[in-house]
Parts: sequence; structure tokens; C-alpha cells
Amino acid sequence: MSVKAFRGEILHFIADPALKSSQNSEQDEAQSSYEYFEDGILLIENGKVKQFGAAQSISENLDSTIVVERIDNGLIVPGFIDTHIHYPQTEMIGSYGEQLLQWLEDYTFPTEKKFSDKAYASKISEFFLNELLSNGTTTALVFGSVHAESVDAFFELALRKNLRMIAGKVMMDRNAPHDLIDTAQSSYEQSKQLIEHWHGKGRLQYAVTPRFAPTSSDEQLSLAGRLLKEHPGVYMQTHLSENLKEIEWVKSLNPDCENYLDVYNKHELLGKRSVFAHGIHLCDAEYNDLAQSNSALSFCPSSNLFLGSGLFKLDVAQQHKIKVGLGTDIGAGTSFSILETLKDAYKTQQLRGKKLDSLQSFYLATLGGARALDLEGTIGNFLPGCEADFIVLDYHATPLIKLRLDQCQTLAEKLFSFTMLGDDRAVKATYIQGELADIHHH
Ligand code: GUN
Ligand code: FE
Repeated sequence: MSVKAFRGEILHFIADPALKSSQNSEQDEAQSSYEYFEDGILLIENGKVKQFGAAQSISENLDSTIVVERIDNGLIVPGFIDTHIHYPQTEMIGSYGEQLLQWLEDYTFPTEKKFSDKAYASKISEFFLNELLSNGTTTALVFGSVHAESVDAFFELALRKNLRMIAGKVMMDRNAPHDLIDTAQSSYEQSKQLIEHWHGKGRLQYAVTPRFAPTSSDEQLSLAGRLLKEHPGVYMQTHLSENLKEIEWVKSLNPDCENYLDVYNKHELLGKRSVFAHGIHLCDAEYNDLAQSNSALSFCPSSNLFLGSGLFKLDVAQQHKIKVGLGTDIGAGTSFSILETLKDAYKTQQLRGKKLDSLQSFYLATLGGARALDLEGTIGNFLPGCEADFIVLDYHATPLIKLRLDQCQTLAEKLFSFTMLGDDRAVKATYIQGELADIHHH
């Protein structure tokens, strides 16, 4: 049995700071959403949290043989959770000039073709996972390419690194280059094989992954729904209502459907383990259906700005009580960093005349992401039994961060500074199940 402890400044969330009850003032509610210890201890047994709290009370009963690692000049928080990202798009990040549909044709599809080669897929998987870990992201919901091998390559590596990752093979049987499409039947069979091989192995989970409505026939979407029924517990990930031209195209392809989400709803693809990326231009009926089905939205502000897609209505999603997580959406997003993604999140809400406060931001990056992935109690905070994936944010990461943090009076101000100034340099260390992650680029 392995027991270890970390001592230092620690923060986690136990509730959504945006949920305001009528009795409590806004400030009370925000404060009861988190637990923060200036001098705290995180006690870990066999990779899981055993106890978490003030150092004074925990250290009294701590066995003297337990090694306590001190963390100075930093803040321990749960590992970040990225609810939407494409690993095969790593190398085409920041490709110039186009909006969604032309961008897919010019850059995305040609790049994804390379992932028919498993050795290549393994090489990029290694690069990708190192990027995630060096940016403090310990769990992600990941798109592969259309090739089953791309997912084998990814999961093999994620398993070796003991990571909690969710991924799936893209299903795409129309409106894409001929050498990048599957068929409804082959996508069903290959996804099924991948589920049987990988879902539940280590901390890996499978996501049925129809790319988006325009690239899947009705038959393919209906088989995606069948996979979900045949394998309870697997996820569903896709794109929804990202770009105005895309939405027009979906309407013209599906004249029988009321709205974009209906295309997915018709094939029973909504549910508590379904994650829809973007959802920028939704109508009321779509918000209601997402809420009623307990589906999640992935908010990808960096991507939304880069592709000129639009501004996500975070407050509207919250009013509808829809689960929301953050997504980098690499390679349409321009950073692997959840901190940089939060910077863009803040700016998108400013453009809408709304404020995204830093407690809400860190909630979205941790417990909010866990809830979006239906993994509360497993990851996202330090309640007993949760997997001990956590990071240390460095108060001395850069001269500017140090200078700015020295001026901060409150926890909220410090967190806000990290979201405005932070990137991978702010992540001093990443721990996977209590072990320091070994991060190296070859
Ligand atoms: N919609 C369909 N495919 C994609 C993709 O790869 N990236 C983004 N951002 N949107 C999509
Ligand atoms: Fe995407």
C-alpha cells in the first residue's frame, strides 16, 4: 500500500459558484462552492485521495512514517479537464485564413489522412499527451481520426501513462474526401471492436464519435445510437451549431428536422454522457432538449475566436442548467493551455457585456469539466476516493506573474491573474494518481 501526503496551499470546488440560492447572498454562495486551505494537506493512498483539509488538523493524526512533500510558492488544484480536443490536429494548429467549412477542407482533412499510418499516429499521440500534461490537463475527451488505428495508438500510450482519457474513432461516411470516409456498417463494426477492446481498460473510456451531422448519413447516426444502447457507459461526442454556414447546410440536408440538435436527437444521441462541442447559435428548443437530456456543452472560446464562429452564451447555458465544460478544440483552438482558454473565455463574455469571474473559471476547468463528463466523484476535486490527478500552479512562473501576484489581495484576484497571464509555464508540476508525471518531448 502506498501512502503519501502533499502540504501547501490547496484549492478545490465542491459546487458551482454560479448557482445562487435565494437565501444566500452572491458572495456566500461563491464561497461555499470551494474549499481553500492556505496550509493544507492532501493525503493520498494508492493513487486516490484519502483525506484533504487543513494541515493543522490532519497532521495531528498522521502516521510519522508517511512522507510529506512540501509545495512552496504555488497552489495545488485538481488537474484541468479538456472536454473537446482533436489529437490528429496537433500539427495543424494555427492554420491561416478560413472559417469552419473551408478550414476543414484546406487543412483538417489533408492532415487527418496521415493517421492511417499507426506509427505516425503513435508519434503524434506521444507529442499530444506530453503537451496536455505540461499544460496541466490530466483528462480529456478526444477525437481520433476516421482510422481505428489512430485510436489504438492513442489508447496504448494513454494506458502506459496511467491517464484517465476518453476517445473515439471519427465516424464519417459522406461529404469528406473519398480516402477519409468509412461506411455506416464499417464505422459501426470498428467502433464496436474498439469499445470491446478499450472501454474500461485502466482508466480509459470510449466515446462514439460521429464528426458532425453533415458528414454522417442517417444510417450512420442511427448505428451510433445503437452503439450507445448496446454499450451502456460509453460516451458520445460530436459538434453542434458552431458556424452559420454549417447550420444552413445541416438544415438543407435535414429538411425534416426542426433544428440542428434534432438531427442527433432523432437518433437518440443525447444523454448524460453526450458532449456537444460549441453550441454557439442555439435556439430555445435546443437549450431545453440539452437540459432535459442532461447532455453537456463544451465551451471552446479559443477555437470560436480563431475560426470566427461566434460568442458562446455561457449565461444562457447556465440559466438552462446545462452542464458546461471547457474545450481547447485543438487544432482550431490556438493553445493546449486551459489557462489560455480561460483568458479567451473571459474576453468572449466581455464582448457580450458579461463577466466571467475567476472562481467560475476554475470551477469550469475542474469540477465543471468532471460533471460535463459525468465523472464527478472520480475526478475534478479532492473529495475522498477521487483519483489524485493534480497540478501545482507556480506563483513565480514568470517575472510578470510574480510581480502581478504580489499585488493581489484575494484568492479570486490570484486566480484571475493566472487566467490572464498563465500558460504552460505556470504549471510547475503535474501529478498522475499521486505520482509526478514524467513529461518529455523527443
Ligand atoms: N466540425 C466538424 N469537424 C470539426 C473539427 O474538426 N473542428 C471543429 N472545430 N469543428 C468541426
Ligand atoms: Fe472540434
